Amino acid sequence: MNLVMLGAPGAGKGTQAKRLQDMRGLVQLSTGDMLRAAVAAGTKLGTQAGALMERGELVPDELVIGLISERMEEEPDGPGFILDGFPRTIGQAEALDELLKSRGEAVDRVLVIDVNDEALVGRITGRYTCATCGEGYHTLFKKPKVEGVCDRCGGTEFKRRKDDTEEVVRERLNAYHAQTKPLIGYYTAQGKVRTVDGMADIETVQKEIDLALDGA
Ligand code: AP5
Ligand code: MG
Ligand code: ZN
Repeated sequence: MNLVMLGAPGAGKGTQAKRLQDMRGLVQLSTGDMLRAAVAAGTKLGTQAGALMERGELVPDELVIGLISERMEEEPDGPGFILDGFPRTIGQAEALDELLKSRGEAVDRVLVIDVNDEALVGRITGRYTCATCGEGYHTLFKKPKVEGVCDRCGGTEFKRRKDDTEEVVRERLNAYHAQTKPLIGYYTAQGKVRTVDGMADIETVQKEIDLALDGA
C-alpha cells in the first residue's frame, strides 16, 4: 500500500509515519528529512535547499522529485511507501503518479491530518528529536519515559530544527495553505482521501488512522 500523509507543519505526519513504519513495515520517505540530511552533509543541493527552508519556503519541485525518485529506485518491491511531506504541489503529485506507475503501482490512500493553525505553532515550538536515532519528542505532549534519555535508542543528546521558530512556522503555514492544500481536492476527486482529527492525542490519532486504513 502506498500512502500519502497530508497535513500542515506540525500536524503529526512524521510522528504517525514512524509508527506506521514500525507497525506495518511500510517505508517512510520524508523529503524534509532527506533535505535536512543534504544540508548537514553540505552538498550543493543542501546549500540551495537550506536557505529556502530557513525562510519557510518550499524548495523547487525538480529538486524534491529527484530525491524521491532516487530513493524509490533503491527500494525493491516491498509492502509500500509512506510519503511524508511529499507531494506538496500539484506538480509533485503528478510526478509521483508517474514514478509509481513505472513500478506498476499507484497512490492507494491519502491521509489528511487535520489540525487548527494555532495548535500547530505550539506543537512545533515544543518539538525536539533524538540526535542519534531521530525519534521525535515534545516538551509537553511526548516526553521520554526517563528524562533526558531517548526511549528508542538510549541516546542522551537531543536537537531542535532551525526552522522551528514561531516566525518561520507562520511562513510554512502560508506555504501549506497556498500550495499544498489544493492537493486535498486533487486526491478527493480520485476517491482516495480519508481525514483524521489531528487535534486528538497521539494514541487516538493512531487508532483513527488504523481505522481509516483497515476500514472501507
Ligand atoms: P518538513 O520536514 O516536511 O516539515 P513540515 O511539513 O513543516 O512538517 P513538520 O515535520 O514540521 O511536522 P509533522 O507533521 O511531521 O509533525 P510532527 O510529527 O513532527 O519540511 C521542512 C521544509 O523542507 C519545508 O518547509 C520546505 O522548505 C522543505 N520541503 C520538504 N518537503 C518538501 C517538498 N515536498 N517540496 C518542497 N519543499 C519541501 O509533530 C510535531 C510535534 O507535535 C512533535 O513534537 C510531536 O511529538 C507533537 N505531536 C504530534 N502529534 C501530536 C498530537 N496528536 N498531539 C500532541 N502533540 C503531537
Ligand atoms: Mg515531519
Ligand atoms: Zn534515539
